[in-house]
Amino acid sequence: MATYEPKNILITGAAGFIASHVANRLIRSYPHYKIVVLDKIDYCSNLKNLNPSRPSPNFKFVKGDIASADLVNYLLITESIDTIMHFAAQTHVDNSFGNSFEFTKNNIYGTHVLLEACKVTGQIRRFIHVSTDEVYGETDEDAVVGNHEASQLLPTNPYSATKAGAEMLVMAYGRSYGLPVITTRGNNVYGPNQFPEKLIPKFILLAMKGLPLPIHGDGSNVRSYLYCEDVAEAFEVVLHKGEVGHVYNIGTVKERRVIDVASDICKLFGLDTEKVIRFVENRPFNDQRYFLDDQKLKKLGWAERTTWEEGLKKTIEWYTSNPDYWGDVAGALLPHPRMLMTPGVERHNWTEEIKSLASSPAEAKECSTVPAAATSKSTSSVPTWEDM
Ligand SMILES: NC(=O)c1ccc[n+]([C@@H]2O[C@H](COP(=O)([O-])OP(=O)(O)OC[C@H]3O[C@@H](n4cnc5c(N)ncnc54)[C@H](O)[C@@H]3O)[C@@H](O)[C@H]2O)c1
Repeated sequence: MATYEPKNILITGAAGFIASHVANRLIRSYPHYKIVVLDKIDYCSNLKNLNPSRPSPNFKFVKGDIASADLVNYLLITESIDTIMHFAAQTHVDNSFGNSFEFTKNNIYGTHVLLEACKVTGQIRRFIHVSTDEVYGETDEDAVVGNHEASQLLPTNPYSATKAGAEMLVMAYGRSYGLPVITTRGNNVYGPNQFPEKLIPKFILLAMKGLPLPIHGDGSNVRSYLYCEDVAEAFEVVLHKGEVGHVYNIGTVKERRVIDVASDICKLFGLDTEKVIRFVENRPFNDQRYFLDDQKLKKLGWAERTTWEEGLKKTIEWYTSNPDYWGDVAGALLPHPRMLMTPGVERHNWTEEIKSLASSPAEAKECSTVPAAATSKSTSSVPTWEDM
């Protein structure tokens, strides 16, 4: 199997969660690669995610939008970019129900601008496009075989529809212009550096204060979770060993229900699940399950290394050691945070909405006094019952 050697890599969206782990890993392991990061620093980004890379002479951060053709063309030429790893996107499904045009602009148009810049400059030897398991739509509850890379794309929400749309453009640029494209479709990822609008960090921050954990629907939805370092390794493998024109699932066959994720977090914090978990209104559509066939990437030599128990423990340790990392994220901790992340929508009434999850003031008080076994620290950025 031929191994690809990049020289100068542009990573988009690396002030966000997954790509920061990929950038930090490549900088650490391949000091002879130049890594240029392009990120517009959206609400979910944090420059601190890139702290491990910042002292390296082969690292450069550029604040900017992938939708700016001038900027992207300029960077490709001046930095002699030969490889793009494209992660930048609007990623929160809940937000996509409220403000889906932003998803079309960033995820479809932004990808189109990058592809066109690759065509115009004619120097790209790999374009790795990062997509998601959600493009397959939901898997039947009783299915025993997961979606493989040739399965039909049947997205069910605006986020996944824009990710599928971006994939179509990537495929077309591969076919029409011979752009050397590789696409990945990944299961859910968790670990340090993730903005707390996503399920696991959100539950951790709420549990750190003994606040209720809101579960959409009845919590029976099943998700597959991979630890961020394992996923960063998967991208390292795809970069070096992936075949042009191919799609790779980044998946795990281990699945767990959302209610079980919440219970596991409660257990690690010494919280009583009966008292802390609250069932709230479901999303407009909530896929029951995303089940992937993970064999193709395994044949390239990748394997999941981190167990759920180990990964969750490390993640909790990180969030409890960095309680102020995200600043004031009270809005992101709401059961349905999308409106608060929509530009122009006022932040209002979140206290009432969180408060309404407690069935009685006495119970709310009790929640706030439950000892958080996994942490001795508290965070000023998470609302307490006393704040309300
Ligand atoms: N998080 C997951 O569980 C998961 C699973 C499978 C696939 N993915 C895919 O992986 C990629 C990264 O996901 P994540 O969870 O790390 O995302 P994230 O939301 O943590 O970070 C996204 C980053 O992209 C940047 N960005 C967004 N639009 C941009 C634009 N127009 N120009 C420049 N920068 C822009 C943001 O500022 C942010 O730093 C996404 O493409 C997502 O669809 C994520």
